[in-house]
Parts: sequence; structure tokens; C-alpha cells
Amino acid sequence: MICAIVVAAGSGTRFGGRKQFIEVAGRSVVAWSIAACRSVASQVVVVVPADITPEDLPADLQADVVVVGGATRADSVRAGLASIHPHATCIIVHDAARPVAGAALFHAVTEAIAQGAAAAICATPVTDTVKVVAQRDGRSIVVDTLDRSSLVAVQTPQAFAPDVLRAAHASGGDATDDAGLVEALGETVVVVPGAPTNVKITDASDLDLIRASLS
Ligand code: CTP
Ligand code: MG
Repeated sequence: MICAIVVAAGSGTRFGGRKQFIEVAGRSVVAWSIAACRSVASQVVVVVPADITPEDLPADLQADVVVVGGATRADSVRAGLASIHPHATCIIVHDAARPVAGAALFHAVTEAIAQGAAAAICATPVTDTVKVVAQRDGRSIVVDTLDRSSLVAVQTPQAFAPDVLRAAHASGGDATDDAGLVEALGETVVVVPGAPTNVKITDASDLDLIRASLS
């Protein structure tokens, strides 16, 4: 049984509001993300902000379970994990703020788990040159240039063997993605090709691209 956690409990500080609940191309962003999960998942748990009343949630948010999230993304994933079906054989974690993620990505990460991987993430090659910078005397200066050929930009969906995801979160630790916590356990994380269109809504400038993809 494939289950999914859609994390939608953020406050959208950079966007200037709860981007996961706005309407884009006739549906709320979170509803697009839930629909994408349903391409493979038979249970979808949606994690929403603690300070929102049920009437303020989008009317098209159709989840199997709705739970309240926490202060950090990892806290919100842990809240969702507590409501995952005990017979789950694979758990997907997906950002509500990535409404364009297609069924192919969900199939790819869950197939990796079915083949025995502990964790699988989708990612795209980094095309810009990436440098490490530091602050010196009030200026930003370059201290290193990374080898781009070994770098990828990580997306969601990410899929996990249930025991691995539970163990990764048992520490109560924080990371910007769940795979980071799994890596800390020493488990192998498999990378499958992501999609360039699968952008996360971070600030308002991301909306045009998202709208074009969903329309
Ligand atoms: N998220 C969450 N609980 C949190 C923080 C984030 O469920 N405490 C979710 C967001 O709703 C989003 C995803 O994690 O779907 C990715 O997070 P991000 O893009 O950083 O969204 P926000 O944290 O809402 O935005 P910001 O960092 O600008 O405040
Ligand atoms: Mg955030």
C-alpha cells in the first residue's frame, strides 16, 4: 500500500502568504499536489497550519486525513507520519507547493522503493555554476567554486521504505528535506530524474511558470 504525506503547513514568508492555498488554473495549489499523489497513493495525509480554521481551507482540498503541522517542515512531516496507515509499504513525502509534479515522477520514486531502495528522490542537474560565498569586511566574496558535474537540485516527491522514514524522523531532527535525515542514518538514497517544470512556488515570480504549466 502506497501512502503519501502532502506538507501544506508552511506560512509562505518569501511568497507573502500561504501559496499552497491560492487558486491556480481552476484549482487550489494543494489540490493539484494531492491529485498528483493520487496517481500512485491510496492514502493521502495532508498537513495544514495549526492556526487555520477548517472553513479557511480550500473547498477542493480532498484528503483522507487532515492533520495539523508544526514549526518546521520536518515537524510537519512527523505530524503526517503519525497518521499514515500501518500497512504502508511505501511512504511518499510531497511539498504542497509543487503542484506541477507529474505522475511519472511519482511512478519513478515509488518504483525504486518497490525494487528495494530505502529512499528515492527526484532531482535535476544543476546548470548554473555554483560558488561558495562568505562575508568579509561587509562584502560578499567567493571562497570556492563547486564541481557542477556532481551537483543536482532536489525536488519532491521523495519516497521511502516506511521503517526508514520513521527511523529518520525518530531523532526529531531538522533538514530541508526528508532524504537529508535518511542520509544521516547512513542509508543509501537513490536519485531518479526530476522534471525541470516541477518548480516549487517560493516567491511570487514562480507563479507565471506554474500557471503556464497547469493551464
Ligand atoms: N511546510 C510545512 N510546515 C512547515 C514549513 C513548511 O508543511 N512548518 C511545507 C510548505 O507548506 C511547503 C513545503 O513545506 O509546501 C516546502 O516549504 P517552503 O517552500 O519553504 O514553504 P514555506 O515554509 O511556507 O515558505 P517560507 O520558507 O518562504 O516561509
Ligand atoms: Mg520554508
